[in-house]
Amino acid sequence: MIILKFPEEIEKMRASNLIVAEVLLTLKEKVKPGVTTAELEQCAEKLVRKKKAEPAFKGYRGYPYSLCTSVNAEVVHGMPSDRELSSGDIISLDFGVYYKGYYGDAAVTVPVGDVSIELQKLLAVTECGLYEGIKEAQPGNRLGDISAAVQRCVETAGFSVVRDFVGHGIGKALHEDPPIPNFGIQGRGIVLKPGMVLAIEPMVNMGSCRVKILSDGWTAVTEDGKPSAHFEHSVAITDNGPDVLSKMSLN
Ligand code: MF3
Ligand code: CO
Repeated sequence: MIILKFPEEIEKMRASNLIVAEVLLTLKEKVKPGVTTAELEQCAEKLVRKKKAEPAFKGYRGYPYSLCTSVNAEVVHGMPSDRELSSGDIISLDFGVYYKGYYGDAAVTVPVGDVSIELQKLLAVTECGLYEGIKEAQPGNRLGDISAAVQRCVETAGFSVVRDFVGHGIGKALHEDPPIPNFGIQGRGIVLKPGMVLAIEPMVNMGSCRVKILSDGWTAVTEDGKPSAHFEHSVAITDNGPDVLSKMSLN
């Protein structure tokens, strides 16, 4: 069941997502060769508490951390550790909060030091896929319009879209209906309505779309060991079109 949000609720969700965006912006600045992913986790924890918000992921289905840090071939749900980042790596930072009754959720993938042109392209295409999807988050469009737009952008660039994980509705729960695949057929699926809030989150692999879960039960990695990128925004559908609640700049 899809839960529509009133405009007042969307404003509360903007507040939650603003905290997510601020934390991610600060973390992005901290990403440098030699920094450990555990240091990023500690920073996220500190900032979220300062904002009087709760980390959304900690304890969610037993996930032990506030932040997901997925490096290189890790697709999503990578766990913070003593691993030091090296120049040439890419790292996805995925963060969520619970604040005054509503969840916020967003992710970015950033380069560490100098990364190859191929990796720069992977990041650019994944973010572009997210924005192509967001553009379709219009009242009267269908869910498949979002999915197909993401998929087209990614596959035209020669990369592949992960099938095993999808985006989701978000609100008083972190994961609400509908599931939002990053692949699909234009014109299919439910009709989008004002008041829907969607976490759109393409996960894009440089090689095959196949992924597997490591024995820690969480970390998803590409089967072929090639790199993967992930971007996510929480987006409200309004009469005036998509409203990106987790946007990280003022424009
Ligand atoms: N952004 C991810 C999601 O929406 C992060 C969830 S991590 C978890 O599913 F630990 F909370 F599962
Ligand atoms: Co999400």
